[in-house]
Amino acid sequence: MKLTLYVDGASVGNPKRGGVGVVVCDDSGKVVTTYSAPLPQATNNEAEYHAVLEALRLAKKTGADELTLLSDSQLIMRQLNGTYKVRSPKLQKLHAEALALTRKFRRVTVEHIPRQKNGLANRLAQEAATQRVECRVQSVELEAKKKPLTEHAAPKTPPSVKIAPSILSADFRRLGEVIRELELAGADWVHFDVMDGRFVPNISFGLPVIEALRSETSLPFDVHLMVLEPERYIAGFVKGGADIVAVHPEATHHLHRAVALVKELGAKASVALNPATPLEVVRPILPMLNVVLVMSVDPGFAGQNFLPFVLDKVKTLRRWIDETGLPIELEMDGGVNANNASDCVAAGATVLVSASGIFQSGKSIAEAVQTLRQAAALSTRNCSGLQI
Ligand code: DX5
Ligand code: ZN
Repeated sequence: MKLTLYVDGASVGNPKRGGVGVVVCDDSGKVVTTYSAPLPQATNNEAEYHAVLEALRLAKKTGADELTLLSDSQLIMRQLNGTYKVRSPKLQKLHAEALALTRKFRRVTVEHIPRQKNGLANRLAQEAATQRVECRVQSVELEAKKKPLTEHAAPKTPPSVKIAPSILSADFRRLGEVIRELELAGADWVHFDVMDGRFVPNISFGLPVIEALRSETSLPFDVHLMVLEPERYIAGFVKGGADIVAVHPEATHHLHRAVALVKELGAKASVALNPATPLEVVRPILPMLNVVLVMSVDPGFAGQNFLPFVLDKVKTLRRWIDETGLPIELEMDGGVNANNASDCVAAGATVLVSASGIFQSGKSIAEAVQTLRQAAALSTRNCSGLQI
């Protein structure tokens, strides 16, 4: 069994008090366990090593044999890789302990990630250091400690349909918590509907909201720009934390240029097609795209009714994508809910966006995500998607 562990250590105050945060993800990238614990006096680097040690111990208990450890501490990751020397005797001891633990696994890979990708582990570590909370493990799996992790992991839609909740219908007073709940609920992406009041007849929110939420989760941010001249804002959104950026062809004079810009900046490119926009618009640039977003309502508002005629477009697009042989995601957005999710997947969708279907369903976020997943799983079309 293979696990990915995000680790972080924090050191705050004077005298220094430490905390560790670990987020354990299964093979499919779902969070299965979070762990946090306070530490007595610890420097940043010591706290970071303690986080690595706790991560390795947690992983050992699950029976995993292959691990990827991700941390935003370049120094520690390089020391573990053997590319940097460890000078302080205290760190040497922790380093040796960590190496000894890594040898208990068939394979351990250590990688450095940017801080904004390590948001959840970072928050857990900070909370443990500042609030001195007791050691806390949130996991069905580890509390049960009986069966291997995968047997309990959050139910996955076969085969790999992604759920991308749109926060447009969420409670805006508590967006930070909402994002963290989405991650724990097993959402795959978070969808942000940015509206300018010109391309669509509504204004939602912009870059500051995305920037503020970036540190709350490591989930990919799927940013749907419903704005005129998106090329003016693309760099800002990518810098602010967007992993995927969608633009509408009608909003720009130069669709290819806008898509190329997204890719040059290192993000994944998506084109969003309104219900009445012909698919032909994307055909020449399909191989450049990572995602095609098919709108199943006219954009501008959450809570509108799904337009079933869009399913025929999705079927055609599915064929075109399959012909390219590329892992291009086919995302549907607008009026998607548990009643039509299986139709969307049967037509060829690999990513389902839902705002009111999640946040206005009367269910908890976790239940709503799971219900949508299960509904989507009623269709078993085989799709091989993009790993972001
Ligand atoms: C529509 C947006 C959608 C919308 C979905 O303009 O692009 O993402 O928020 O909302 P629901 O799922 O409620 O139709
Ligand atoms: Zn959207």
